[in-house]
Amino acid sequence: MADFDLIIKGGTVVTAADTVRADVGIRDGIIGAVADRLESGAKVIDASGLLVMPGGIDSHVHLAQPSGESVMADGFESGTRSAIAGGNTTVIPFAVQPRGKNLRAVVQDYHTKAEGQSYCDYGFHLIISDPTPTLLGQELPALVADGYTSFKVFMTYADMVLDDRQLLDVFDCARGCGALVMVHCEGYDAIKFMVERLERAGKTAPYYHGVSRPELVEREAAHRAISHAELVDVPLMIVHVSGRQAMEQIRWAQQRGLKIYGETCPQYIALTADDMKGLNMDETGGKYVCSPPPRDEASWDAIWEGLRGGVFQTFSSDHCPFRYDDPKGKLSAKGRSSFRWVPNGIPGVETRLPILFSKGVSEGRIGLNEFVALTSTNHAKMYGLYPRKGSIAPGFDADLVLWDPNRKETIRQDILHHGADYTPYEGLAVRGWPVMTVLRGDVVMEEGRILGAPTSGKFLRRGLSPYAVPTGGSAA
Ligand code: URP
Ligand code: ZN
Ligand code: ZN
Ligand code: ZN
Repeated sequence: MADFDLIIKGGTVVTAADTVRADVGIRDGIIGAVADRLESGAKVIDASGLLVMPGGIDSHVHLAQPSGESVMADGFESGTRSAIAGGNTTVIPFAVQPRGKNLRAVVQDYHTKAEGQSYCDYGFHLIISDPTPTLLGQELPALVADGYTSFKVFMTYADMVLDDRQLLDVFDCARGCGALVMVHCEGYDAIKFMVERLERAGKTAPYYHGVSRPELVEREAAHRAISHAELVDVPLMIVHVSGRQAMEQIRWAQQRGLKIYGETCPQYIALTADDMKGLNMDETGGKYVCSPPPRDEASWDAIWEGLRGGVFQTFSSDHCPFRYDDPKGKLSAKGRSSFRWVPNGIPGVETRLPILFSKGVSEGRIGLNEFVALTSTNHAKMYGLYPRKGSIAPGFDADLVLWDPNRKETIRQDILHHGADYTPYEGLAVRGWPVMTVLRGDVVMEEGRILGAPTSGKFLRRGLSPYAVPTGGSAA
């Protein structure tokens, strides 16, 4: 009998720490050995000329979520199919609490949507929109104990926004149960003021979405969230940071010794506010509407500074797809009447790794090990999946992406697997592309062909984040 079920042979193994020429031996879905030469495998895959990296972990994706009157273009089946096609093996979408709803029931709903419908492994973050005393005192601690160990809260969006007191209460609850809080930092009142002023002036095209939420509303909210976190003594993850101003708030907090972490996304190194003009201030600009909005090329430089300098721990997609040709999608009648009604969000789970690799590694801005940290390892560590996911070493799940660092591709809608009918990155030329995805030892994608099944993915009950421990020590 062979020592291994599968040997990945002759590749260059890249982790967050090392780059070495090595073979990877897999048994029962787990990595059994990483060594110079492994011979005894029931199956052998030749990886010469390829990088062998931990499968991507995308800790910020939205799947099967309702959004106002709009219907999201990806449920679990198409969303996770797109994820594995892009070299990912784990996603962490959100279970969203509509106000007034019991959170446990909400989580059950999302399990029903995901079970038997997932090509890759998945966990859930909880979105808290209604922090009642019962929710904070009983429901949340019980859910955290069951492996839902992170929450997201919003400082904007009418149906989600929490006021300062509610933010403080959620932060305090998280401190008590050891959960990690993710915060969407954009100030609700300032945006509402801007939206109303722009609409009064007849400025309703998608482009004005960006004008209505300038960087300073993100900076102000980031500062407020950081201050509240300092008061409570709780760590925070500030998600989807778009540019210099919010990035500098996070860096300032980090330099003061606070446990404030940062996430950024492809749209903030690859899109600009001008994309929202469409062809000539037409509705096609709605394809780029997301929040925070894309900024400008100077902001891209700031984001790279934060990626290189360790301000950001994670690079996620914030995949949040809506169809363009859908009367309830990007181009609804209401959306045409004002940017205010264009659903926020863009697809990106499949293009996250190629965009960061191409602009980062191929163009010399970051190294291979930083790429792995930003796309996989740090997500596993941050969200309680380490040391099961996020590296290549004995004992880890055999979740791998085989990557051709020299493959040139042009991102086009017709090569992608998501449920959206466009990609905001249409025509973007990249160098570096995933050629194979391995999930717990099984090849689930090869050369764009999907070989896995919607039953391949498993729910991940996550541990507490080691990053969520307060500065003052355990809160218990
Ligand atoms: O525009 C975006 N990002 N929509 C998704 C929801 C969120 O805020 O992450
Ligand atoms: Zn958000
Ligand atoms: Zn999001
Ligand atoms: Zn978002």
